[in-house]
Amino acid sequence: MKRTIGIMGFGRFGQFMAAHLSPRFDVIAGSRSDHATEAEALGVEWAPLQTAAEQDCVIVSVSISTLRDVLRSFAPSFSRGALVCDVSSVKVYPCSLLDAYVPGGCHCLGTHPLFGPDTARAGLAGHTIALCPLRGYDPGPIASTLSDMGLEVIQTTPDEHDRNMARSLALIHFMGSALSGLGIGDVTLATATHRRLCELVSITHNDSPQLLLDMHRYNPYAAGVRRELIDRLVRLDGELSSLEAEGMEH
Ligand SMILES: NC(=O)c1ccc[n+]([C@@H]2O[C@H](COP(=O)([O-])OP(=O)(O)OC[C@H]3O[C@@H](n4cnc5c(N)ncnc54)[C@H](OP(=O)(O)O)[C@@H]3O)[C@@H](O)[C@H]2O)c1
Repeated sequence: MKRTIGIMGFGRFGQFMAAHLSPRFDVIAGSRSDHATEAEALGVEWAPLQTAAEQDCVIVSVSISTLRDVLRSFAPSFSRGALVCDVSSVKVYPCSLLDAYVPGGCHCLGTHPLFGPDTARAGLAGHTIALCPLRGYDPGPIASTLSDMGLEVIQTTPDEHDRNMARSLALIHFMGSALSGLGIGDVTLATATHRRLCELVSITHNDSPQLLLDMHRYNPYAAGVRRELIDRLVRLDGELSSLEAEGMEH
């Protein structure tokens, strides 16, 4: 018999997850708005959020900024012994919420799939998922299922995760968003590297603007890395401007 997974939040990532989980598990999805048509197209059951919350394994895939409200509202619906996971792109803040709001009789696990509908368009194989076990939860069985799905599983702490993401994902989305404003795709001569840069812009463009804001607002290290980048850009600009002031002849 297939196990049932409840997905709470049916946005870009919730739907992407449903597509990959439904061949192996029965999936019951719920969200704030009605996504019954999308659920039907993906072959998953559409139900009230409460029903998704009552399953033995629950994956909460809402915006990071609404995670607290969702966990607080649905905490009484989580079944005793159930596993409650998040998929947020930051970990310190969501893991503290899981710890605070998920009732003591449940297990909880912080996760961050380091891929999405764009980067894993061709499949999950070779992509990475970070796991942050909470309250002594043994992630072994989950890790082996995820490995079977082709994923590389890395166990880490919420703090280590956020330090890494501040220099990778959060920085990429910051730069992608800034470059998007420059309209860098609007050239007739382009190198291969430029095409990759344009791909970065389009990938960050497809995610919701809320995700960029949340990835920075809730990562305690993101502002420091942004500051470092801006300082370096200003310094480099200063050096180039000095050379320009010396003239073109040197
Ligand atoms: N996008 C990615 O590539 C990616 C990759 C890895 C992890 N993640 C993580 O996945 C999570 C969701 O991101 P996303 O990209 O799917 O964002 P999204 O497309 O904006 O979807 C967010 C979902 O949260 C739902 N939601 C918001 N407030 C809610 C509430 N109070 N009650 C119930 N549902 C609520 C929204 O509901 P309605 O649509 O029903 O209104 C929406 O479906 C985030 O934690 C993000 O960090 C995303």
